[in-house]
Amino acid sequence: MRDPGRSLLVPLLLLSLYPLSLTARPFFLILTQEDLKGVAAAPPDELLYPADWDEFGDSESRPEEELDPGSWRPMFESGEPLAAGTEPEELYYSGVSKMMAAASSGEGRLMEEAVSEFEASAAAGHAHAQSALGFLLGTGQMRDRSKGKAFLYHHFAAGGGNMQSKMALAYTYMRQDMYKKAVELYAELAKVAVSSFLITKDSPVIEPIRIHNGAEENKEALRKSRGEDDEDFQILEYQAQKGNAIAMYKVGLFYYFGLRGLRRDHTKALSWFIKAVDKGEPRSMELLGEIYARGAGVERNYTKAFEWLKLASRQQLYSAYNGMGYLYVKGYGVEKKNYTKAKEYFEIAANNDEAGGYYNLGVMYLKGIGVKSDVKLACKYFIAAANADQPKAFYQLAKMFHTGIGLKKNLATATALYKLVAERGPWGSLSRWALESYLKGDVGKAFLLYSRMAELGYEVAQSNAAWILDKYGERSMCMGKAGFCTDAERHQRSHYLWWQASEQGNEHAALMIGDAYYYGRGTERDYERAAEAYMHAQSQANAQAMFNLGYMHEHGQGLPFDLHLAKRYYDQALENETAAIHNCPSDATPSKSCFC
Ligand SMILES: *[C@@H]1O[C@H](CO)[C@@H](O)[C@H](O)[C@H]1NC(C)=O
Ligand SMILES: *[C@@H]1O[C@H](CO)[C@@H](O)[C@H](O)[C@H]1NC(C)=O
Ligand SMILES: *[C@@H]1O[C@H](CO)[C@@H](O)[C@H](O)[C@H]1NC(C)=O
Repeated sequence: MRDPGRSLLVPLLLLSLYPLSLTARPFFLILTQEDLKGVAAAPPDELLYPADWDEFGDSESRPEEELDPGSWRPMFESGEPLAAGTEPEELYYSGVSKMMAAASSGEGRLMEEAVSEFEASAAAGHAHAQSALGFLLGTGQMRDRSKGKAFLYHHFAAGGGNMQSKMALAYTYMRQDMYKKAVELYAELAKVAVSSFLITKDSPVIEPIRIHNGAEENKEALRKSRGEDDEDFQILEYQAQKGNAIAMYKVGLFYYFGLRGLRRDHTKALSWFIKAVDKGEPRSMELLGEIYARGAGVERNYTKAFEWLKLASRQQLYSAYNGMGYLYVKGYGVEKKNYTKAKEYFEIAANNDEAGGYYNLGVMYLKGIGVKSDVKLACKYFIAAANADQPKAFYQLAKMFHTGIGLKKNLATATALYKLVAERGPWGSLSRWALESYLKGDVGKAFLLYSRMAELGYEVAQSNAAWILDKYGERSMCMGKAGFCTDAERHQRSHYLWWQASEQGNEHAALMIGDAYYYGRGTERDYERAAEAYMHAQSQANAQAMFNLGYMHEHGQGLPFDLHLAKRYYDQALENETAAIHNCPSDATPSKSCFC
């Protein structure tokens, strides 16, 4: 008879790693038996899993300024004058505010001043100015575009502790398949991101919003991001004021994490949670537990944390058991450490399908906390948690692929997994400010911020920036080598951005690349390459691309003249997108047709 524990590991494990909303295309990682064969099953050794990294580490809520030094946050969130100590720092902040002003107004003179200030500051060794300069040179703003110089500046800046430059470098290495380098940087970045996650369950993910839906503005997503101006939010707040406990919890949650385009406001959040728990609302109890354990917005008090979690758990809120288990692992807010009890609590959570429970059990088995260390079992738990979209579990699996402990070493996969986690780090706030600017009608600033994020490897930002360029043209306030972008510079930049997004699986981007080649925008006209790009998009079942391929076969452009094939593509397109074809103009040409 086979060992039942073993057989669990054998079948194909299908991990849907990218939540659908996160990328254009879901990403499936298929683990085969091969991945599990001959891997080190020894307890993780100190070198690879150093003791300073404690999975049950104190859940710090370190300020984002510390996690993401040199961030442009003060420009958007503090409202205070930019702090400056030394002269290079003063130049840096002055440069940032001039760059932002130039992005809004399109004034080349201001941008020139910004770049000069960054140059002076960077020459004095200021890492954040070097990072900003890397961005401007990489995109060719007020200076010749130079990928080499950009890389060099990011390299210096990363050495000086600028995290965004580390993101930019990691992404550059990944694109060049230099996984050894990419994996180290992404591992470091992911670790910072993970340390800011919650202990009981997942923090709500603040994903960059896709501002376009193919060719059109994504009105629904934008409406939902209008914060206090959104009618739905106003209704919710009204219900909360009228005493609806669930509405109170939701309003509190939106304020606490800054969801739906709201400004984060811990004070407002706390007051709503306290009102909600008065009415016995369990999820607010759990959050209060979390808040007291982290000391986020209140004075840390583990006793209070435990009390709130316990109350929540009594109302069948099983994720609260994770928080209680955590406190027992640490011996905080309870009589003393008790691993047996901690494990019992994690098991209760897991048995009730709380992914955090799987994750925590995984950590216990990985580290041998209160149990005999068992890396294979740990891996199994992490896979279960990852299948439930637990980002911390992605991190653990990344580490296993990275080290070859528990899973067969695979640096490319490790890189992809770490990247996913790393993108949830504090630098992701750029997308919030970009969206805020966009909603205020400051398209130029939105474009600049998305461009920065694009450089850090965010696919959504790449396609948002490209879309803004295409849609708004001159109003995107794109800055080129000598001030305002020429048409050629704009096309070239949008081509490059679509290209990056396409590499990361965005099918609309492949279509836009096809169009760029078809019409000769930002690149030489090339029907064959256009056909290739459309092929790529249609392989992802993109109806517009099918239509375009049909059109090219029908006219013998880039593809052999072939009416049968043309018809087949048109039929496929029709099948995939029945509604659209009816009002097809007779002069429809690629991507200008009825599908847009
Ligand atoms: C923490 O909370 C407990 C229970 O509410 C309370 O008795 C204690 O005084 C608090 N500790 C501090 C340091 O405020
Ligand atoms: C730890 O918890 C277990 C299970 O709840 C219990 O049986 C045991 O007595 C506790 N140990 C200590 C030292 O308190
Ligand atoms: C879309 O087109 C693909 C061919 O690429 C085809 O296999 C598929 O069945 C079509 N889907 C729908 C919903 O018609």
